[in-house]
Amino acid sequence: MEHLFDAAVYQQMIEEKGSQLFGKRYRIHPIDEPLVHRMIAYFIQDEQRAKEEGISLGKGLMLTGPVGCGKSSLMQICAAMSGGPFAPKVVNARQVAMEFNKSGYEVIAKYGDLAFDKDTGFPIVYCFDGLGSESPTSHYGQSCNVMEEILISRGDLARPRQMLTHVITNLDAPTLEKRYGKPVRSRMREMFNLISFSPDSPDKRQ
Ligand SMILES: Nc1ncnc2c1ncn2[C@@H]1O[C@H](COP(=O)(O)OP(=O)(O)OP(=O)(O)O)[C@@H](O)[C@H]1O
Ligand SMILES: [Mg+2]
Repeated sequence: MEHLFDAAVYQQMIEEKGSQLFGKRYRIHPIDEPLVHRMIAYFIQDEQRAKEEGISLGKGLMLTGPVGCGKSSLMQICAAMSGGPFAPKVVNARQVAMEFNKSGYEVIAKYGDLAFDKDTGFPIVYCFDGLGSESPTSHYGQSCNVMEEILISRGDLARPRQMLTHVITNLDAPTLEKRYGKPVRSRMREMFNLISFSPDSPDKRQ
């Protein structure tokens, strides 16, 4: 049977999940629909649709857009709806930074190395939310750009181990390069599909 990609059906499912998780008024704004359809194509792993959208299913996602447009909630919804090996674990970059300040370099291994989910047995797909919003980190006075280290480590495992990573950020590529350096920027192209909310996507905070 022909596989039908019915975006409207999935969009409705996203709105239902969104209402459960974030309140009854969760609705996909018309300006965000094309982006939501790209997210759907990725998370249902629809090869045909992904190809049409220029998305590589072998890479992770870099989700960008203006403050409050709904990046974090959309990723949480997709995470909750997708099971199995593609369901990401969302952690905030600020949380990672605080963990590093407390525990040091083991935190880079924790998030940077290949690790398996205890329950599912699948490799953990991390999604680092708020990339670039974390404060500079140090452990016992030794400074270290912890997200830079983690991204380099995961970038180096992306191809040989097919390790997936997602990031959510408000920053654009030049700003990310300034913050994390050329080696990260170079790996990013290989690690991520860029999925951007429209700059005109409204702030959904009330
Ligand atoms: N489609 C939507 N309909 C209604 N409310 C929404 C929608 N998307 C997000 N919201 C609500 O708007 C607020 C901001 O959403 P969210 O935190 O996902 O934005 P963000 O893009 O991650 O913001 P930031 O850039 O500050 O991290 C949240 O309270 C969320 O529940
Ligand atoms: Mg957010």
